[in-house]
Amino acid sequence: MSLQKHQFTYELLDDCRELPEADRELLEQARKVTEQAYAPYSHFHVGAAARMQNGEVVKGSNQENASYPVGICAERVLLGNAATLFPGMPIETLAVSYSNQQGNHNIPISPCGMCRQALLEFENRTRQPLRIILSGQTGEVIVLDTAAALLPFAFTGKELE
Ligand code: THU
Repeated sequence: MSLQKHQFTYELLDDCRELPEADRELLEQARKVTEQAYAPYSHFHVGAAARMQNGEVVKGSNQENASYPVGICAERVLLGNAATLFPGMPIETLAVSYSNQQGNHNIPISPCGMCRQALLEFENRTRQPLRIILSGQTGEVIVLDTAAALLPFAFTGKELE
């Protein structure tokens, strides 16, 4: 038996002013696109904005449904948009934000497990680390160098071969 340790490193910033300008603008777009969410059931509005390898920005917002499981998260809406508009192109950086009814949106969002799985596969299939910026409408910002950091022991599909 041996004990194994898994660690990852991330940046924690006091607020978006510590980000480089291009990242700050991307986060602002993620914050703004929460307005396009369709979230009449949870009232939790999520927005995502990605800078593609060619500099274009692709966005997504969560889209819910009266049949609750049909709803889809902002991150996966974005990944579908990106893969369709720019087939095979890596995402350089993805920013995710949210707003809720209570106005308590100053802690960074944490993507759900299903989105972590989808982000990892997008990263793997495009063979380039996908940087991730997580924040609320204000407050602290987390920056990760790779989607893989969000999902240790991931099922990558290698076992299918
Ligand atoms: N949601 C996202 O869009 N992204 C996340 O990272 C977390 C959760 C959505 C799903 C659902 O529409 C609402 O937020 C509440 O869970």
